[in-house]
Amino acid sequence: MKKRILLLAGGQSGEHEVSLMSAKSVLAALPRDQFDVTPVVISKQGRWLPPTDTARALESGVSAHGGDLVLHRAASAEGYDAVFPLLHGPMGEDGTIQGLLTLAGIPFVGSGVLGSAVSMDKVMTKQVLASAGVPQVAWALALRHEWRSTPDTVRVRASNLGFPLFVKPANLGSSVGISKVNSAGELTAALDLAFGLDRRVILEAMTSYKPREVEVGILGNDTPIASPVGELQFDAEFYDYDTKYTEGRATMHIPAPLPDSVSQRVRDIALTAFRALDCAGLARVDFFYVQETGELLLNEVNTMPGFTTTSMYPKLLEAAGISYSELVTRLVGLALEKR
Ligand SMILES: Nc1ncnc2c1ncn2[C@@H]1O[C@H](COP(=O)(O)OP(=O)(O)O)[C@@H](O)[C@H]1O
Ligand SMILES: [Mg+2]
Repeated sequence: MKKRILLLAGGQSGEHEVSLMSAKSVLAALPRDQFDVTPVVISKQGRWLPPTDTARALESGVSAHGGDLVLHRAASAEGYDAVFPLLHGPMGEDGTIQGLLTLAGIPFVGSGVLGSAVSMDKVMTKQVLASAGVPQVAWALALRHEWRSTPDTVRVRASNLGFPLFVKPANLGSSVGISKVNSAGELTAALDLAFGLDRRVILEAMTSYKPREVEVGILGNDTPIASPVGELQFDAEFYDYDTKYTEGRATMHIPAPLPDSVSQRVRDIALTAFRALDCAGLARVDFFYVQETGELLLNEVNTMPGFTTTSMYPKLLEAAGISYSELVTRLVGLALEKR
């Protein structure tokens, strides 16, 4: 019998449009002889759109207002064999939808509540990975109330890390709200921006030299595999929003031009991180490689990475010999296996 799949797309984060594009690709690729797929687009307001509005959103890449509250529509998720929550960022990749689906008893693709929530949060990720011995940049946490009531304590934390440093909202993504701070004078604007978007902000030391950015794809549950390593090359001070989403600003190199020993370390550390964070199904693990010193530092773990046919994650798995449609089929299998 065919498996009935609910494909969730869109969502309330800044990556709404990316998710729509990813979902369109997944919808086209799930083999119809094995799956009956129902897409539901979640509007930017967090409402589940009816079928006609969903179809229009997937077609045009823009979603309408309206729709139903999640709780009203959650019951309609019953009757599906599995859900593919193809949602990025807050309210999608952060354990919230995973909690709803867990309560409803429906298997879903990707990490559960714990792995999703911890991996979404840059501070929690760093704490868990530090205890697993994973190399990372030096960092410090700052809270919004501290920045408002005792800003000097936050400034001290920043200058202890040294300049330049990165200031980031703890729970966002897509480089939104991230600043590279070159000197103490630029700190106020960066912190105001980040605290405008999140209660918790992470301050991160910059690597000693401009790092190379390398990424690896992980696939599996308890016995995951790591793909070949890829590299992103771009001409910008860092991989900011425009560079990420403007066609042609960044290029992907798979496999990354790296010595085998470095690629192998990337894969080993990524698998360690995947296990330490209790991830499941899939993840793209991003690293900084400081060529001058040989340092390899884990930057972040994305539990629902970009998923168009030209996105890094599916391309990395393709390099591992797994085609796009085989990949989405396997992910559903992994969701069912988790149960
Ligand atoms: N500590 C750091 N040192 C050097 N570059 C950094 C550092 N942190 C972030 N960057 C740059 O900023 C980009 C976005 O940061 P990242 O933490 O990956 O945020 P997001 O979760 O929004 O993708 C990175 O891809 C990199 O180019
Ligand atoms: Mg990133």
